[in-house]
Amino acid sequence: MNRSAPVYDLLGVGFGPSNLALAISLAEASEQQGAQLPHLFLERQPDFAWHPDMLIPGSDMQISCLKDLVSLRDPTSRYTFMNYLHAHGRLARFANRKTFFPSRAEFDDYLRWVARHFDDVCAYGETVIRVEPVVEQQAVTMLRVTSETCAGIRKARYARNLVVAGGGEPAIPDAFSDVAVDDRVIHSANYLSAIDRLQERRGAPRRIAVIGSGQSAAEIFMDLHARFPGARNDLIFRSHGLSPSDDSPFVNEIFDPDFTDTLYARPRAERLKFLQVFQDTNYGVVDLELIERLYALLYEQEVAGVSPHRVLPLSEVAGVSRGNDGVTLTRRSVIDGAAEETSYDAVVLATGYTRNDMTGVLSGVRDWITGEEVDRYYRLPCRAGFRPTIFQQGANEITHGLSDTLLSVLPQRSREIRDALLAERAAETSGESAA
Ligand SMILES: Cc1cc2nc3c(=O)[nH]c(=O)nc-3n(C[C@H](O)[C@H](O)[C@H](O)COP(=O)(O)OP(=O)(O)OC[C@H]3O[C@@H](n4cnc5c(N)ncnc54)[C@H](O)[C@@H]3O)c2cc1C
Ligand SMILES: NC(=O)c1ccc[n+]([C@@H]2O[C@H](COP(=O)([O-])OP(=O)(O)OC[C@H]3O[C@@H](n4cnc5c(N)ncnc54)[C@H](OP(=O)(O)O)[C@@H]3O)[C@@H](O)[C@H]2O)c1
Repeated sequence: MNRSAPVYDLLGVGFGPSNLALAISLAEASEQQGAQLPHLFLERQPDFAWHPDMLIPGSDMQISCLKDLVSLRDPTSRYTFMNYLHAHGRLARFANRKTFFPSRAEFDDYLRWVARHFDDVCAYGETVIRVEPVVEQQAVTMLRVTSETCAGIRKARYARNLVVAGGGEPAIPDAFSDVAVDDRVIHSANYLSAIDRLQERRGAPRRIAVIGSGQSAAEIFMDLHARFPGARNDLIFRSHGLSPSDDSPFVNEIFDPDFTDTLYARPRAERLKFLQVFQDTNYGVVDLELIERLYALLYEQEVAGVSPHRVLPLSEVAGVSRGNDGVTLTRRSVIDGAAEETSYDAVVLATGYTRNDMTGVLSGVRDWITGEEVDRYYRLPCRAGFRPTIFQQGANEITHGLSDTLLSVLPQRSREIRDALLAERAAETSGESAA
């Protein structure tokens, strides 16, 4: 062990909303209980940013701004969205708008404002590339966390505990695995910067395909229409049609913080069934108002006698090839297998995200981890002799429900993780003093 490298009680991978909410919780514990837990979060982006390449002009939040980083736990906290509005002199005008759903740009600005209060506990511009066990007398006493800056400089730090909240990685359909490096094939996670780069290098695209039928696909389809007037855009997806997300009030209760206990207590098979039944609250679905705008656009084109855009349901991409004149997709009907080829100047994969820390950042300690499902307090199960606790946020839908990847439970989850950490430390300290 390199004794000169710093040792922390807690290191965090990522500084998105999940670990930002945890930073607030830890600061509260320090202020209110005097609990000191030296910690640092490592974030690969150069500064705080919330899905920056999807800050599409006109896009709004999908949950109430009352479900910010802290309000549902402590509405009197200085880190509420309301206090952000107040601090920026916009509270009254926000109220006049009669909405709980601010733009994504405004919520990003709120998150950045909170994050600035925590600059001292985040190292930006560092990607965690490896987590390794430190073995002393056959026990793992700590974790060695290696990060790399964009200049290729590597840094090692040690952690008594780790919290992983790295979000999702772009899901790339198999048919695109060979062409994913082509600048004409863009995942929605990189949309805004990639489409700008493409335009700069190759000029405005005239024929564009968007794959997928979720919120990202619909937002991007509409943005492409506004951005490249005259372009012919196809929206290609496997399902029957664009379906609205169910955000009705009774159903919305599945995202309430209290619901986590209800779901966690159920047998695994029931939890899996639950995820399936409520998929349409979050995945492969679109906000109804956006569906209506998209439909109206297609109708207006029909009235005008031009129909440059097409919505192509029940279609899968069976083949992809690229040439100088475009990326050619072989589109196959999922009903009768009929195939058709079309060439595009750009293809946007709005195909969602995968979440698997075991094959990613935790692969170096995988042998010590005995299962992929966390306990109620988000701790991964580990072999005897492995002393650090590894907390996982955002990859626990199977145990904690659909709210796990969203903002809804952050105030409660961050308190639970913090309290679990403090309880473990208190137990260690009392064990040491008894010995
Ligand atoms: C376009 C879009 C809009 C959304 N809108 C909503 C919404 O309105 N409401 C809602 O509830 N949810 C929404 N979501 C869901 C979203 O997952 C949550 O809002 C939220 O971002 C989850 O926070 P997180 O911190 O867990 O993950 P993320 O926000 O993804 O943050 C993870 C962070 O970890 C960093 N990171 C990853 N790997 C490493 C590494 N190896 N080393 C260092 N840093 C790393 C990333 O750079 C990132 O900053 C949206 C998702 C998307 C994609
Ligand atoms: N304004 C906002 O707040 C906003 C904006 C964008 C996204 N979001 C959030 O971000 C999260 C992700 O949304 P998303 O739209 O990016 O992803 P998503 O909801 O997971 O949708 C992914 C889409 O890609 C399709 N797909 C996946 N794999 C495919 C494959 N191999 N071949 C063809 N199609 C494939 C899926 O089709 P199938 O259904 O056929 O599998 C689905 O239509 C959600 O929580 C969403 O609410 C929020």
